[in-house]
Amino acid sequence: MSKKNKTAKLTIGTTGQELELPILSGTQGPDAIDVTSLYKEAGVFTYDPGFMSTASCDSGITYIDGDKGILRYRGYDIAELAKGSTFVEVCYLLLNGKLPNKKEFNEFNRTITEHTLVHEQIHFMYRGFPRRAHPMAILSGAFASLSAFYHDSLDINDPAQRDLSAFRMIAKVPTLAAMAYKYSIGQPAVYPRNDLSFSENFLHMMFAVPAEEYKVDPVLAKAMDQIFILHADHEQNASTSTVRLAGSSQANPFTCISAGIASLWGPAHGGANEAVINMLEEIGDVKNIPEFIKRAQDKNDPFRLMGFGHRVYKNYDPRAAVLKDTCSKVLKALGQINDPLLKIAKELEKIALNDDYFVKRKLYPNVDFYSGIIYKAMGIPTSMYTPLFALARTVGWVAQWREMMEDPAQRIGRPRQLYVGEKPRKYTPLSKRK
Ligand code: CMC
Repeated sequence: MSKKNKTAKLTIGTTGQELELPILSGTQGPDAIDVTSLYKEAGVFTYDPGFMSTASCDSGITYIDGDKGILRYRGYDIAELAKGSTFVEVCYLLLNGKLPNKKEFNEFNRTITEHTLVHEQIHFMYRGFPRRAHPMAILSGAFASLSAFYHDSLDINDPAQRDLSAFRMIAKVPTLAAMAYKYSIGQPAVYPRNDLSFSENFLHMMFAVPAEEYKVDPVLAKAMDQIFILHADHEQNASTSTVRLAGSSQANPFTCISAGIASLWGPAHGGANEAVINMLEEIGDVKNIPEFIKRAQDKNDPFRLMGFGHRVYKNYDPRAAVLKDTCSKVLKALGQINDPLLKIAKELEKIALNDDYFVKRKLYPNVDFYSGIIYKAMGIPTSMYTPLFALARTVGWVAQWREMMEDPAQRIGRPRQLYVGEKPRKYTPLSKRK
């Protein structure tokens, strides 16, 4: 981050006070006006609910240009990473800022592999949940509870302990997610296998049963890996900002990631992939699409086209572009190319992309539009879609949390407010209240 000699001039209308605020520049993207001294100098706050124009931090991890539809991790284009790298390589990249060489990769891969088991007590904890529990509820709870098991990696001021907790979370999240699924269907948890790759191991833990051998389909493992890469980080979205805010109070990383999982669960964020499938099933037939398009445009109807629109992308979400292609490959490999939901999805996309309402508001398909169809074809139940997002995003949350903890200027996050409540009132005791 550099301070240019540029400043922004601000005149406070109520007092006539004039201020010169520094303008900060990153390596790419819009400049930012530094308002940190504003309250001290002029006694006013900035007001920006929803962070429409506010950068909450500086970060060197992920770059998005929403107008151009660009997403890069540490400078590398997302489509190139999804095509050429494995998820574990991308984890290394997000955490360390560079792609690993072979030796670094092998070491890192070994470390992650060696941390995939979870404490046996956690299996007992799962048994306390009702079988119908949403896996996100279990996952969020399980993450917070990891801090009860790993006292040797809770010192956030020790870089080695921060690393250890990072490895543990990235390695254990597939185990915890698959365990939540197995628990919901009454099957025994499948233990991780160190001879499999990250994504093969996850699919194995999801679909293997003790009674027979399960062979992981390489097309599905590749698709899973790509999906994990595409979801690995997305700069300061709601869940990542939640992780940072939770971490800013020096809370331990397991509980911070648990908070991120809770935030991701919402249908406006990570819950949208589940909502997309529900919507496509509700549409039911291509002939019903116009009715749903009309509903999405009706301000008196809360219905929205799920998997469409994004706070940052005002162009085709680059992750959706990769997934559209992956979706066709997976359905072909599984002999489901004529899947009726895919047909509805493609037609819906075509109609929406040419509809004035969507064009004017720059509403394009987002990452969730095609991921659900892939999951469905793989036999993953809808309740597991958001846990899969959480699984992949854990590395992003961890990388962002670590970046924040390594920043010497880091301080507790504490937004201010514009108070619109009652002015001081006279208190009346209960006995005298009418
Ligand atoms: N269907 C119909 N209209 C929409 C949609 C949609 N999916 N998304 C936005 N709009 C309209 C909205 O009604 C508003 O219209 P107007 O200007 O006439 O009032 C305009 O577009 C701007 O919408 P907004 O709600 O102010 O935009 P936002 O940046 O606050 O919301 C969003 C972004 C993703 C929450 C929203 O587009 C949405 O609800 N999409 C559906 C849910 C979804 O797919 N979420 C997944 C996001 S990608 C995964 C992730 O990163 O978590």
